[in-house]
Amino acid sequence: MAPNLFEKRFVIVAGKGGVGKSVVCAALGLVAARRGLRTCIAELNTREKAPLFFGKPPSGYAYQEIYPNLFSINILPDPALREYGLMKLRFERVYKLVFENEAMKRLLKVIPGMNELFLLGKAFNMEREKRRDGRPLWDLIIVDAPATGHGVSLLRLPDTILKVADAGPMAEEVGAMRDLLLDPRRTLVNLVTLPEEMPVRETFELANQLEGQLRMPKGFLFVNGIWPELLSETDQGLVTALDAVLPPSEVRARAGVEGLAQMLERRRFQEAHLTELADHMPWPRVELPYLFRERFDLSAITLLADTLVSQLQALEGKAA
Ligand SMILES: Nc1ncnc2c1ncn2[C@@H]1O[C@H](COP(=O)(O)OP(=O)(O)OP(=O)(O)O)[C@@H](O)[C@H]1O
Ligand SMILES: [Mg+2]
Repeated sequence: MAPNLFEKRFVIVAGKGGVGKSVVCAALGLVAARRGLRTCIAELNTREKAPLFFGKPPSGYAYQEIYPNLFSINILPDPALREYGLMKLRFERVYKLVFENEAMKRLLKVIPGMNELFLLGKAFNMEREKRRDGRPLWDLIIVDAPATGHGVSLLRLPDTILKVADAGPMAEEVGAMRDLLLDPRRTLVNLVTLPEEMPVRETFELANQLEGQLRMPKGFLFVNGIWPELLSETDQGLVTALDAVLPPSEVRARAGVEGLAQMLERRRFQEAHLTELADHMPWPRVELPYLFRERFDLSAITLLADTLVSQLQALEGKAA
């Protein structure tokens, strides 16, 4: 059954590099914000995309409202560590003594995964951050996870750390982080892919890891970049027929026909991958069209958001 993504507070979007994770985060964020959820897209130590889609400048490690009800932040390791240190140690002076000590700084740099831990830690803190009146600061946090390999090690980090340090304040903190990642009431992991060879392979692998070792709550599979069905079957037959009879001297007509044939073939390749995904991955699936755009701006995100809404409704209908 399809889960309700907008009832969770910690929604992770993962997938191979370049498949459209940030685009999907933006579209989800727009849908949530329009529904009145106070939403924040958390990018993790990357070149920010979220603000750009909404026509805003990058804001670094600071919440910026990029659309009514929708915010974004780029979680960077240094300020995340500083914030964490200050939160735990309370006093700037003590913090400086501990964390700005050169030896300590060097130590933190060489402990593997330490930077990532602070990235995840900030996102984790966002989930429990409260407003003055006690309500959660965020109704929804959308975590734009790093590309596959990094994403998995990031999500596995709490487990990895707990294996070597299973007692003390650090273990308590990391344990709570792991609890959040495994909690189906709050957390949902979604995957993004393209209907192409490599992304589909990596998606299977990622899904295996999520279901196997990580055991995190499964959400949706977003298949991005789907080409339109260009022609009906009859018209496709006409293209083939034309291709056979057009003489080589008809240069422009031939180029047109060959271009069309190429596009049809691409769409057929995609269909094969879509079938493969449907056969091997029983996740609720949302299909997003390829948009022939020069720039990915608010109008493109809006289009994808609208497609998303109608497909989520269809999935809810199916589940009901
Ligand atoms: N549906 C689509 N139609 C056309 N182009 C798209 C679509 N989705 C994404 N793109 C293009 O692909 C680019 C990469 O998308 P995006 O930044 O969301 O990928 P990503 O998975 O977040 O990449 P990275 O792993 O580098 O963070 C976008 O800037 C956009 O130009
Ligand atoms: Mg991205």
